Amino acid sequence: MKVLILGAQGNLGGQLMLTFGSEAIGWDRADLNITNRNEVLTKISDLKPEIIINAIAYNTVDKCEADESEYNLANKLNGEAVGYLADAAIKIRATLVHYSTDYVFSGEDKSGYVEDAKPGPINHYGQSKLLGEKVLYTKSVQGLKYYLIRTSKLFGPKGKSGFSKLSFFDLMLNLAREKTELKVVDEEFSCFTYTVDLAERTQELLNQKYPFGVYHLVNSGPATWYGALTQLFKIAGINVKLIAVGSEEFPRPAQRPKSSVLLNTKIPPLRDLSEALAAYLNL
Ligand SMILES: NC(=O)c1ccc[n+]([C@@H]2O[C@H](COP(=O)([O-])OP(=O)(O)OC[C@H]3O[C@@H](n4cnc5c(N)ncnc54)[C@H](OP(=O)(O)O)[C@@H]3O)[C@@H](O)[C@H]2O)c1
Repeated sequence: MKVLILGAQGNLGGQLMLTFGSEAIGWDRADLNITNRNEVLTKISDLKPEIIINAIAYNTVDKCEADESEYNLANKLNGEAVGYLADAAIKIRATLVHYSTDYVFSGEDKSGYVEDAKPGPINHYGQSKLLGEKVLYTKSVQGLKYYLIRTSKLFGPKGKSGFSKLSFFDLMLNLAREKTELKVVDEEFSCFTYTVDLAERTQELLNQKYPFGVYHLVNSGPATWYGALTQLFKIAGINVKLIAVGSEEFPRPAQRPKSSVLLNTKIPPLRDLSEALAAYLNL
């Protein structure tokens, strides 16, 4: 099976490349300008993959909140370009896999969000990702076969892309080498997701031919930033003192959902966060 992975040098894209191995053809921005509809249609039709996995995203949440031109770019990459990929997939009858985020939800529902819960983003990034979701629903009427996978708070090996960010856990592991105590926000209750687990479950969705539609893939056991870091340091045997603080200690331009737990009601859950953290630390 020929699988085209877009954003192959990103954090998730890099992991997808490893998971799909010899089946995978990886493209990054040098190979395809996904904001150019003609180029997308022509190059993807020429390649004729059976599966297109889109791991490209505009992800800089605070930058696109504060700067209008960055917000436009976010809408292009996370919204319009998804429509071009969908058109290409329809043309060659390929299946499109696309990722979205818990940030499409408002975060007001403490009981969590099932796959068909009503979105209501509270920041520009979430709005741009919701645009991409809506494009898929519209294109499915025209025959698009798609998996829309919502996920949250990714961690795992850093991708090769200059745009890929170090994960929260890696940033904190670095800080722990220099500090004796760290202040950590004890808010934003949601699920963390190990990119290795996410990539493997994505492959399983495809291989086992689950019905097309929306899926929530996150590691089990939601936590705040503080709660998750407490687990990580315990597993790693790190004795840095963690101080729980409110989000007002670290003001940022974009509002975050207070509680955005993605509930998975469709497929077997990913393993518990503590197990995924141990795997990531190689323990
Ligand atoms: N990170 C999280 O915590 C998180 C949470 C929820 C959902 N998600 C979703 O998960 C997916 C993967 O995220 P990630 O964290 O792995 O992303 P990432 O590491 O930031 O990688 C983003 C990819 O997008 C590509 N890209 C950015 N701007 C581009 C442009 N103008 N043209 C072409 N390619 C461009 C980059 O390509 P180059 O390699 O060419 O630079 C890079 O490969 C995204 O859909 C994201 O919204 C992520």
